[in-house]
Amino acid sequence: MEKFDVVIVGAGAAGLFCAGVAGQLGLKVLVVDHSKTVAEKIRISGGGRCNFTNLDTGPNNFLSDNPRFCRSALSRYTPRDFTALLQKHQVGFHEKHKGQLFCDRSAEDIITMLLAECALGGVTRWQPCGVKNIGFLASSPYGTSASSYEIDTTQGTVHCAALVVASGGLSIPKIGATDLGYRLARQFDLPVVTPRAALVALTFDADAWAPFAQLSGLSLPVKIETGSKKSTIAFAEDLLFTHRGLSGPGVLQISSYWQAGTPIRLNLAPNTQLLQQLSHAKATSRKLIANELAALVPSRLADTWTTLGDQASHNWQRPINEASDKALAALAQGLTRWEITPTGSEGYKKAEVTAGGVDTTALSSQTMESRQPGLYFIGEVVDVTGWLGGYNFQWAWASGFACAQGL
Ligand code: FDA
Repeated sequence: MEKFDVVIVGAGAAGLFCAGVAGQLGLKVLVVDHSKTVAEKIRISGGGRCNFTNLDTGPNNFLSDNPRFCRSALSRYTPRDFTALLQKHQVGFHEKHKGQLFCDRSAEDIITMLLAECALGGVTRWQPCGVKNIGFLASSPYGTSASSYEIDTTQGTVHCAALVVASGGLSIPKIGATDLGYRLARQFDLPVVTPRAALVALTFDADAWAPFAQLSGLSLPVKIETGSKKSTIAFAEDLLFTHRGLSGPGVLQISSYWQAGTPIRLNLAPNTQLLQQLSHAKATSRKLIANELAALVPSRLADTWTTLGDQASHNWQRPINEASDKALAALAQGLTRWEITPTGSEGYKKAEVTAGGVDTTALSSQTMESRQPGLYFIGEVVDVTGWLGGYNFQWAWASGFACAQGL
């Protein structure tokens, strides 16, 4: 039976990064993962270029039942620390949009870099290697008084003083996501905030969506919000119409905050004084409403929206100079305060992340150790979920670093 100082379950972003740092601190580290390949999510992220951090990362970019929990780790390993590591490995990168950093070449560069850091730390990696059972031994089988873990894997049984769970959330089971982290938490009586799909497209009842399905593929900048009057959260991002509902960065962001059964509100013309412009057109033009509207919003949206007038008891399929003020006001109101209630989301099959997870009240914000001695949780398995834009990888690096320092 082999003995390690640390066993890390999960060779994803958090696990590999933590392993490299811990190994280089002199610890004997084993990483196990049931997948054949490492870090599949890094590989497919950011359209193959991995949006590996965000320069503007701060605690406000994360959701958690305990919003202060992520502060310490984020302040001790920053986006600048990670870009310094990239520079050491000569990985080229660039800023794309709102502080989001991407690889110039390929996400593979990040994986190669993490594996090189693991090699520098003498990290052992077993893949594919399933975890069959994990037991806690109150005293070490090696004659010391320290406790340890016995891990029964498909490649044999190992002992370790510290066990780091970096097995991620439930998103994309097809590439290896499992509920192992939550099961382990429960095994050791640690609370778990109910997981839910986040950063995910929202779907609607097929009949209700039918008039909008023809807009599939249309993308436009919007303002989108959800929540009650007291606690509204809003994003100004692009929206994408799909056959089944709404997607695009704005919708993915809002999906993390959306509560089932509640509406989302959209302004589909956030950069235009829509009513003012339509009223001006009414005074000066004889064109069809749809044609005037097409100068203010995408023409496909203008065409579709004006056919909805029947449902709203307005005739929007007529020359604009013949439209009543009331009809134009209703048109502008509909487009700028569109309120709809999703029936669900595309779920874990498509979600970029899983919100919820191991409850941070059971974890140290300094080291990620749980109240079960020697058991640590890092990365997405923890109830800390970032916005879209590189924040989730920054959490993986920062929580992995904090953990490695505390082992
Ligand atoms: P991660 O999921 O990376 O790794 C967990 C590892 O544990 C996996 O290798 C898995 O095989 C292994 N594992 C699971 N169960 C196991 C078991 N039972 N036994 C053994 N091993 C097990 N974020 C971001 O910041 N920028 C971006 O550009 C993107 N883009 C993006 C695109 C897509 C399509 C997705 C799905 C996600 C993103 N993300 C992202 C989110 C980001 O990928 C995610 O938050 C991190 O990968 C989380 O890192 P972890 O190491 O915690 O889990």
